Amino acid sequence: MTRVDDRYATAERFTTLRGIEREARRQLSEVAWNYLHCGTGDEVTLRDNTAAFDRLRFSTPLFAGITNPETATRVLGHELSFPAYVAPFGGGEALFHPEGHLAVARAAAAEGIRQMVPVAAAHSLETVAAASPAPAIFQVTFVGEEEAVLQLIGRARDAGYTHICVTYSPIRQWRERMTEDRFTVRGETGPANFGPGLSDPAALAEQLDFTRPRWNWEQAARVMAASPLPCIVKGVTSARDAEAALRAGAAGLYVSNYGGRSIDRMPAAIETLAEVRRAAGNDVPIVFDSGIRRGSDIAMALALGADAVALGRTVALGLAADGEAGVRAVLRILRQEFWTTLGHLGCSRVSELGPHVLC
Ligand SMILES: Cc1cc2nc3c(=O)[nH]c(=O)nc-3n(C[C@H](O)[C@H](O)[C@H](O)COP(=O)(O)O)c2cc1C
Repeated sequence: MTRVDDRYATAERFTTLRGIEREARRQLSEVAWNYLHCGTGDEVTLRDNTAAFDRLRFSTPLFAGITNPETATRVLGHELSFPAYVAPFGGGEALFHPEGHLAVARAAAAEGIRQMVPVAAAHSLETVAAASPAPAIFQVTFVGEEEAVLQLIGRARDAGYTHICVTYSPIRQWRERMTEDRFTVRGETGPANFGPGLSDPAALAEQLDFTRPRWNWEQAARVMAASPLPCIVKGVTSARDAEAALRAGAAGLYVSNYGGRSIDRMPAAIETLAEVRRAAGNDVPIVFDSGIRRGSDIAMALALGADAVALGRTVALGLAADGEAGVRAVLRILRQEFWTTLGHLGCSRVSELGPHVLC
């Protein structure tokens, strides 16, 4: 039984996520802050992602509370201290803290959860894996030569990752905050994983070349079949895509609109989750992200069909506030709030969450 410290009085430097966000604001340049927070277009989807959580309400039973609920769970074969992964956030994460995902890797392991490592990271997938006793999921964009993508997956397998998070990005995103700041991921952070060769500027340019033909489901299915690691498909927000991903061989689904960073005017991600769960059936693992800001949001996402959530901006703020210690504080606070939410809802364990806990 894992225990959660529930005392209000604590000697920890950070006691709330609000406090962590304030410190992150102090630490980050305007450009880095905008990169972290930006969405696409008018940022309607970005706002909707959290507004949709704000509209959800719990139905709490009287005289049925649980004093020490169990937050630990098992997802994709991973033992998690609470049902969360770190989402793959990349491109500019070294702007948040020079240690980037190395700090995240150590923090996630220390707090008993797993990390998804982005291909567009400032540190190579091998370096990040070596920083953690429990490497987990490596995110790969399905673009370019199939052989090159399979080589990258092979490197991830050799480094100890257990799964691939498949992403698809058909064309450059319209992010006006970045445009106004003249910020480009390409020059600033030196992503280390692109192409078969590390730090190869030509390979990097090719991977980021949005004029190249994009993949279709047949190619995705071919590569997933040849992949030595099971693949989780990210960006699923409809029954149509859930069914297509499963037909193509996905071992799990990842409901996400990339935190409103892909295309504006998509529905709030949480509003698509129940449809995806219905289409997938009960046995397919589903990870959810886009809008998780609190422990109570985690409970809501699980009530609507997710097995675990992924944490993007929330963890990035911790990284910016205080590197590894900041990420640990974020995870600790989220777990505590999730724990108390479970107790109020009368759930003694994660698997007892369901639509009945919502009004
Ligand atoms: C700064 C930043 C960089 C990101 N980079 C990537 C990336 O390289 N690959 C990816 O799959 N998703 C990326 N994402 C999306 C996250 O994985 C996740 O889907 C998103 O942050 C969820 O929204 P939320 O943080 O608002 O909850 C990025 C997100 C942020 C904030």
